[in-house]
Amino acid sequence: MILSFAFKDGKAFFRNRFVRTEGFVKEQEAGRPLFRNSFSRGSADGSPFFNPFDLRFKNVANTGVLAWAGQLYALWEAGLPYAMDPATLATSGESTMGGALKGTTFAAHYRIATEADGSRRWVSFSTATGFGGSTVTFYEFAEDGRMLHETQQKLENTSMAFIHDMLVSEHYYIIVLGPIEFSGKKFVTEYVFSKCSIAECLTYNPDKPGRVLLVPRPGRPSGKQGLVARSVEIPPCFVFHHVNAYEQEQAGAGGEPTVVVDTVAWDSVSFEVNQYTYGPNYYTGGSRSHLVRYVLPPGAAAASPHRLLRRTVEFASPDPRATARPYTAVFGGCDMVDHPLNWGPIQGVFRADIDAQLGLSPATSSAEARAAAEQQVAASVDGTAPGVKTDVWFAGPRRFPGEPLFVPRPGSDVEGEGWVLVAVHNADTQTGEMVILDAQNLANGPLATIRLPHRLPAGLHGSWHDAYLGPARPRGLENAAAEPRFEELASIRAL
Ligand SMILES: [Fe+2]
Repeated sequence: MILSFAFKDGKAFFRNRFVRTEGFVKEQEAGRPLFRNSFSRGSADGSPFFNPFDLRFKNVANTGVLAWAGQLYALWEAGLPYAMDPATLATSGESTMGGALKGTTFAAHYRIATEADGSRRWVSFSTATGFGGSTVTFYEFAEDGRMLHETQQKLENTSMAFIHDMLVSEHYYIIVLGPIEFSGKKFVTEYVFSKCSIAECLTYNPDKPGRVLLVPRPGRPSGKQGLVARSVEIPPCFVFHHVNAYEQEQAGAGGEPTVVVDTVAWDSVSFEVNQYTYGPNYYTGGSRSHLVRYVLPPGAAAASPHRLLRRTVEFASPDPRATARPYTAVFGGCDMVDHPLNWGPIQGVFRADIDAQLGLSPATSSAEARAAAEQQVAASVDGTAPGVKTDVWFAGPRRFPGEPLFVPRPGSDVEGEGWVLVAVHNADTQTGEMVILDAQNLANGPLATIRLPHRLPAGLHGSWHDAYLGPARPRGLENAAAEPRFEELASIRAL
């Protein structure tokens, strides 16, 4: 389901509409679940009898969304994009992006990079795993929807390509591969007997390292020649969502640049965490998610993380105009426990300003400097590494924010000047709110809170579009007071 908030003339409009995927339509007609998904145990309707080798899952088109070249795309990483009408949220159908996509999948996460000439690129990827091994394919789309580049890269020593997000820098596509393996034993002993889902057959192997893979981008304006794909070993971790990447050229070298990768690294990952197993113990140590920086100098075979914050974080992103460029401001969701061991769900929104030289300058790049910074992160009052400043908004003990979205102030070219929009679940009122914060002063609290008369289901990822895509002003409400207008397109209570 797509949720849309549109702003015009001081008014906010809310709409929601289901993506009418093929599977959704068939299940609505049947009046019952027909399709299993990657988290299903047994059959679609809960009975233990099913064909375990039927791995055709419904394209749920539920993870990412982007308005591009006149279309709205609803994205799910194991299927093709669903094209929708950005103005009405009506579903058009599965899209191959004008024939550009030859496979059956397309990532839900992407990067929008601004070129030197001011034009924007949609940089994305798809993965494929077969008997010949795994491959990842990177794409770049122009603002008019044309595919400009397609780059295929074979993944060595990777039986299972489980990649949720990517980064881009001036000369590279960047992915992080965690030590995830497919357990044939679990498949045979548990999955076929409806005791676990196919996702739960993925296991994390902490005895193996992670890898950052850098793949050269074709056709860059620098004309730099001779860059090759390279793999940099990192300590084991798992990454769902990245933050940003950028390059620093070596003085007078002209060869490989140093690459900075900022991401959210989980200590490990388990797909066995679900509504039946999730409880307070989950937040006592275990797998925590940290904002980290990897600095990859030319020729480096391995890198260690610079931990930047004590708090656990997720859903972190830069000012979109700084994608693939040196930058300082990161916005995201964070816990409010802020403790080296104990943590919690996302209850705050943070801004971290990171010195762009952190990990690059001689004073911060050595192993000793990294260890001292790690000590400071664990023990300091504000829980930040040297060179990191934070600003945090606490939503309140019974309010739970989703993914924060930074929106630049029109006409400003100051990085991090604008607003942070975030959908919040208020557990006291059991309703949803859209909170608007001043991106340069989060701790001051909301500039505005749009209170909805109903719940907002917990969402995944959103995006902002500068053009107004909301409904025309409803007749009779031209002079209504500033209040949210609920446009009932689909019944939210159906959830
Ligand atoms: Fe995601």
